Amino acid sequence: RYRLLLENAEQLVLVCGRREPWLRRDGAAGLAVLRAASLVVGLDGCIKAVGQADVIRNQFLEATFERIIDCSGKCVLPGLVDAHTHPVWAGDRVHEFAMKLAGASYMEIHQAGGGIHFTVEHTRKATEDELFTAFQQRLERMLRAGSTLVECKSGYGLDLETELKMLRVIERARKSMDIGISSTYCGAHAVPKGKTATEATDDIINNHLPKLKELKLRGQIHVNNIDVFCEKGVFDLESTRRILEAGKDTGLQINFHGDELHPMKSAELGAELGARAISHLEEVSDEGIVAMARAKCAAVLLPTTAYMLRLKQPQARKMLEEGVIVALGSDFNPNAYCFSMPMVMHLACVNMKMSMNEALAAATINAAYALGKSDTHGSLEVGKQGDLLIINSSRWEHLIYQFGGHEALINYVIVKGKVV
Ligand code: NIG
Ligand code: FE
Repeated sequence: RYRLLLENAEQLVLVCGRREPWLRRDGAAGLAVLRAASLVVGLDGCIKAVGQADVIRNQFLEATFERIIDCSGKCVLPGLVDAHTHPVWAGDRVHEFAMKLAGASYMEIHQAGGGIHFTVEHTRKATEDELFTAFQQRLERMLRAGSTLVECKSGYGLDLETELKMLRVIERARKSMDIGISSTYCGAHAVPKGKTATEATDDIINNHLPKLKELKLRGQIHVNNIDVFCEKGVFDLESTRRILEAGKDTGLQINFHGDELHPMKSAELGAELGARAISHLEEVSDEGIVAMARAKCAAVLLPTTAYMLRLKQPQARKMLEEGVIVALGSDFNPNAYCFSMPMVMHLACVNMKMSMNEALAAATINAAYALGKSDTHGSLEVGKQGDLLIINSSRWEHLIYQFGGHEALINYVIVKGKVV
């Protein structure tokens, strides 16, 4: 007895035939795509078979399935992985969007007490239930846009109490919702008002991280990654190093914001510390790119942010040429209000000059790698989790080619073999 049979898909996009992150090697090779193919998910939610439709039919003649979906004329792809989001907060910033359109920069608004500070103020005041309700609705919209695994950051509390409130909200969703979550402690997202960066750094190292460790030991909150906003006027390289090292000692994977608005040598630091991933990288140095490739530190590129803030585009092509593992994230937050990884892939292709194959790999297997989950997520292989999309088109590229309105294109979103 099995959970699900997807039968006779026009194209079944495996993404890759091995568990290592799919680097570039694009060119003519491209992704592994099967035609007239079927896929079986077992009762444990994992993929049991994938191959030619007639072969699978013969192999499973005696089997029964809880659900069978005829995929004739449709494409099956791995569920999308969003490697960077800030989805827990109260109070939007539509008024700041207007200010930015009128010419204000991200840092001008931040230094005037808006931006992250505005969101912190509202998030501190919100109750845990209010935050959870809003968060749940956002996750639901991400799921509808095809994301089945999402990285979720705290970082709008800055004080221990509110950071823990946010992490509890993330934990609650992890337990109650189908969507997969990788949770990130981002207490160093900004320097709280009334504190210096050094005071904030000490507070995180001496108070926040020990508390997280204690809660983890008691099995109450499960945090996967540690993040810092390493930026001029926020956390400098030295504070970033101290926080990330302390986080690593607490057992967290390093995954941080770097080299976004100013060149900070964040990439060099991340490579040295064994970071899993660094996000943004619009201002990364050439040496930083080489160091990241060597250290197998993933670059999480965020096309929505570069677009929204009219920044210089990250050098995706150069990173790919140098062998960096390039991943993508929506960066969903009150600044970049985008839930949709198909939209993100589209922007990555048009603005960052990635190919559609590269963008899909970046939004699946490489994003899973950035979260330390590429051995269970991010591609369609026997043994991996049955997280899938079925799209109403006979060519998978429509998921990137069409921009906006993906809900109508995506017929089914499936997590662990279950239609959600
Ligand atoms: O990744 N750059 C820092 N953090 C977020 C923005 C958060 C916010 O503005 O609320 C980012 O773009
Ligand atoms: Fe971010």
